[in-house]
Amino acid sequence: MPIITIDGPSGSGKGTVARRVAERLGWHLLDSGALYRLVAYTGQSQGGAPTDEPRFARIAANLDVRFGTDVRGGEQIWLDGREVSRAIRTEQAGEGASQVAAMPSVRAALVDRQLAFATPPGLVADGRDMGTVIFPAAELKIFLTASAEERARRRYKQLKDKGLSANLAALSQEIAERDRRDMNRAVAPLKPADDAVIVDSTSMTIDEVVARVLELTAAAFPAK
Ligand code: DC
Repeated sequence: MPIITIDGPSGSGKGTVARRVAERLGWHLLDSGALYRLVAYTGQSQGGAPTDEPRFARIAANLDVRFGTDVRGGEQIWLDGREVSRAIRTEQAGEGASQVAAMPSVRAALVDRQLAFATPPGLVADGRDMGTVIFPAAELKIFLTASAEERARRRYKQLKDKGLSANLAALSQEIAERDRRDMNRAVAPLKPADDAVIVDSTSMTIDEVVARVLELTAAAFPAK
């Protein structure tokens, strides 16, 4: 089963690149960040302490989630039969996701669900620990990164384009804080696998990054 892992920090362009590469290859896509967002979102909707690890582990073990694609190739996620793909993209859900992602029992509860995505003809797995923990035997591992300033600028532009208010300085600070938490946690910290190819997208367009990943794919899987 051919597997490509794409790990990296928030704002590196991973999500878009992974989706486009999966589409081009006709392979499955695992958006593992969405799972952590769904756990945080469910916990936030229920109320209760944001630090109650056993509660979040139970939520993770019992997530009733279905992934799909809309007619334009966009992501659709159903939680308990309700479409939540936009609802889990808020800063609040992202912040909560980063917190629950540091809980070992939450990570453990999501492992089998992630492994189940590896079905023919192939998988593109997007996250933080795809190449280091979940799919350590993947043939192609990419670590996609970009400077913190550039990632904050991209997020700022995204929010402005959606007509939402945004503050660049505050976003930079949030990104730095999330990086710090994701890179320093005890379990599955964000870091490149020893055999990962590092792609720095700071001065690349999405199209250029997709082209680079497809080039690496052609080299790693000569028959595709
Ligand atoms: O990629 P994203 O922004 O949707 O991820 C949300 C949070 O989930 C992010 O702060 C880190 C965490 N995460 C993780 O710890 N491991 C993964 N494989 C994917 C995401």
